[in-house]
Amino acid sequence: MRKNILLTLLVFPLLLAAEEITSPDGNMLLKFHVDNGVLKYELLYKNRQVVLPSSLGLELINWPSLMEGFQMERVQKSSFDETWQPVWGENKDIRNHYNEMAVTVSQPALKRQIIIRFRVYDEGIGFRYELPRHDNLDNVIIKEEHTEFAMTADHTAYWIPGDYDTDEYEYTISRLSEIRSLEDKARTENASQSAIPAPSTQTSLLMKTDDGLYINIHEAALIDYSAMHLTLDDRRMVLKSILTPDSKGRKGFIRCPYTTPWRTVMVVDDARKMLASNLILNLNEPCKLEDTSWIHPVKYMGVWWEMMTGAATWNYADYQAIRLGETDYTKLKPTGRHAANNDNVRRYIDFAARHGFDQLLVEGWNQGWEDLWQKYHNFSFTQSYPDFDVKALQAYANEKGIKLMMHHETSSSIINYERQLQEAYKFAHDNGYDVIKSGYVGNIFPYGGHHYDQWMNNHYLYCVTEAAKYRLMINAHEAVRPTGLCRTYPNLIGNESARGTEFQAMSGCEPKHVCILPFTRLQGGPMDYTPGILEADISKVNPNNPAHMKATICNQLALYVTMYSPLQMAADVPESYERYADAFQFIKDVAVDWDKSIYLEAEPAAYITVARQAKGSDDWFIGCVAGEQPHHSDITLSFLDKNRRYTATIYSDGKDASCLTNNASYDIRTTTVTSKTRLKLKAVAGGGYAIRITPKN
Ligand code: NOJ
Ligand code: CA
Repeated sequence: MRKNILLTLLVFPLLLAAEEITSPDGNMLLKFHVDNGVLKYELLYKNRQVVLPSSLGLELINWPSLMEGFQMERVQKSSFDETWQPVWGENKDIRNHYNEMAVTVSQPALKRQIIIRFRVYDEGIGFRYELPRHDNLDNVIIKEEHTEFAMTADHTAYWIPGDYDTDEYEYTISRLSEIRSLEDKARTENASQSAIPAPSTQTSLLMKTDDGLYINIHEAALIDYSAMHLTLDDRRMVLKSILTPDSKGRKGFIRCPYTTPWRTVMVVDDARKMLASNLILNLNEPCKLEDTSWIHPVKYMGVWWEMMTGAATWNYADYQAIRLGETDYTKLKPTGRHAANNDNVRRYIDFAARHGFDQLLVEGWNQGWEDLWQKYHNFSFTQSYPDFDVKALQAYANEKGIKLMMHHETSSSIINYERQLQEAYKFAHDNGYDVIKSGYVGNIFPYGGHHYDQWMNNHYLYCVTEAAKYRLMINAHEAVRPTGLCRTYPNLIGNESARGTEFQAMSGCEPKHVCILPFTRLQGGPMDYTPGILEADISKVNPNNPAHMKATICNQLALYVTMYSPLQMAADVPESYERYADAFQFIKDVAVDWDKSIYLEAEPAAYITVARQAKGSDDWFIGCVAGEQPHHSDITLSFLDKNRRYTATIYSDGKDASCLTNNASYDIRTTTVTSKTRLKLKAVAGGGYAIRITPKN
């Protein structure tokens, strides 16, 4: 590891008008000053104002607030430059290079001091509040955090509505000033929702200025705190933090000394730089797990899509009031459509193993689905249904060289889950599982809490750290949006935490969705997007489901490259893969871990093209997705070794492909390429292309 910490520790004990610090390349300029006792920062990029003077502060319930009466005490500046290696990732080396300014400010009347720590990177900043313990700043109850992000104009925003319980929304693109009137329409139905009064949005919030700057507001290292959303003063275009409340409206209980999560503002003038940024990961602590040898990327299939489409059921019997430990399941009449049954699971194991997958997820294997909305003691995480033999199926899978993946739908019944957690993890470990997909559908129970409040955020992290003790990797759906914690706990190999492919079996996902997610949701960590639906006509899986996917087959293939994740699912049913066996080949071949990633083309909502070099290999893969309009891609393969020739297999949209009416029109061709090759390819709206490049000899 290259480590070069230039601790310039310059301490200025006095009160200059404004303290300043720039990024290592000098382009980002952060200023801080105290204005009539109020803390203020501002941000400039290449001499252009990006964040106007914006105030900082915390309003407290049980102590005088940290909002006013401040004066400057001292400023410490330092630099940091280190290159670290993630356990899995888009690149084998990640450089963490920033200049830091820690400002100590005091409230003399209250005899208290706090620190605001800024880290300034070439592509953005992070800052946080650090609260030492004082006699009058001890156990603190937060009423609200008042961090402002004052924008310079009515930018274009790519946003989802503010909500304390779900982020499974389609993105709306509008001016900031239009959010208020569009928010109701943007708030489509979900199993658990708590609207933040309009105008409000969630992070990571992407914006574009009229003069071509891309801005992103998010947070990093969300630990023991509630998730931050943004409300908007749409007269002044000032975004303000709004934390997720608990059942009584309190926003956080903290014990000093304490540091808040980082608030981040990314600014770039080339959209590709945002996708390539590691700002959020870098602001997180290094890996805390001593042994990571058991953590690995996973390509998997699932006994899943047939339930999502409604062709099969998760539940063994019809909905009824079961009682765990008392109900004799062998006496219940099965639905006859229970997918997690021994024969069907064996069929999937055979298919997944034959095609080289690592694991097979099986949902609906455990008792409780008959009455999942009854939140008290509703699911068992150790008792399987009578037609699912855990040991025999895991042994069968192992014989074929794969593993089963565990599923824990909690229905957000947290007490039921935590009471069983140790037993459930031990059961999974003892039965040969090493990945758990968990889920938090529905309202949090005990009622009143929210998916993104402090208590729940602590729960999600508790699951990750406890799972590590059993050598289990976690992929939590409907959990809080990631903030880079996978650097510290790399057994957090996935999250859903956004609108995923499951919606293609319901109300759909618009083509622009996958051209926005890498700029927003993926900034915090990988998404279990579950791509690879090759049969767009959902009625082919379930004749009673008229849904139709809005994506071409090549778009689905490209997602394995454009939506970075160490956990990738081939989400469709085996019949669809048999039907499109030549396209399926790309899903079988594509890597899930990388040495290098190069973003070749990018514009939010319009297109993303990325090339990635497979881990420990000379193979490259390229993926391109297009949004609502076709994209004419023009790329040069200059990243290839100059002295080698390669075979490229190109999967591209057919001339008459359409994401609405002709999804299965595609061409596959093989050609020789070198580092000088220039490729011009067309992706239709909602389409894309995927390329596998392997060296000759
Ligand atoms: C929602 C998840 O996102 C989905 O993947 C899962 O199958 C269902 N919940 C049931 O747990
Ligand atoms: Ca979901």
